[in-house]
Amino acid sequence: MISFMEPRHSNIVLIGFMGCGKSSIGRRLASSIGYTFTDSDDLITERHGRSISEIFASQGEEIFRNLETEELRGLTEHQNIVLATGGGAILRKENRELLHLIGRVVWLHANPETLFTRASRNRKRPLLEVENPRSTFNSLLESRLPVYEEAADLKIDATGLSHEQTLEEILDRLGFRSDARRSSGTNTD
Ligand code: S3P
Repeated sequence: MISFMEPRHSNIVLIGFMGCGKSSIGRRLASSIGYTFTDSDDLITERHGRSISEIFASQGEEIFRNLETEELRGLTEHQNIVLATGGGAILRKENRELLHLIGRVVWLHANPETLFTRASRNRKRPLLEVENPRSTFNSLLESRLPVYEEAADLKIDATGLSHEQTLEEILDRLGFRSDARRSSGTNTD
């Protein structure tokens, strides 16, 4: 795995395919170490007053990708954040470089069955709103796996783990000692 450059800050950036749990685990992680949780899809939605699905439908994927890059550019000076990125944020080289500037890049992975089950739970993922979502899912996953691998400083395999167990694994692997965690902020639901 290649790090392009040292991150400027101690932020944590979560990357991974749709359904890997970036947002829910990111929220728990932020709460447990006293960081602020940020989600690049939420930033886009808030700034433009439209859901991700609406942006895809009315302006297309390329415009969505431009908005995604703009949000990442705006995060490079932030401190003490846990950033959950959209599953395709690693596709652009510029984005991968921005993610490394923002912080340590953690790839949350799970087996395809887990990812597909979780990613299909709601209709908020325009890329899977197609006639044969499973086949689209398979080809997207296959083409992206090497890109996550390249972009990541650290890979966490969450297959078979609950969100809480995944959180513990991330904290351990990132070197957060348990006595340094904010017990009052730990969300155990
Ligand atoms: C996308 C993943 C989505 C969202 C958009 C595109 C992708 O985020 O950014 O629908 O290209 O994989 P999640 O990974 O949070 O679902």
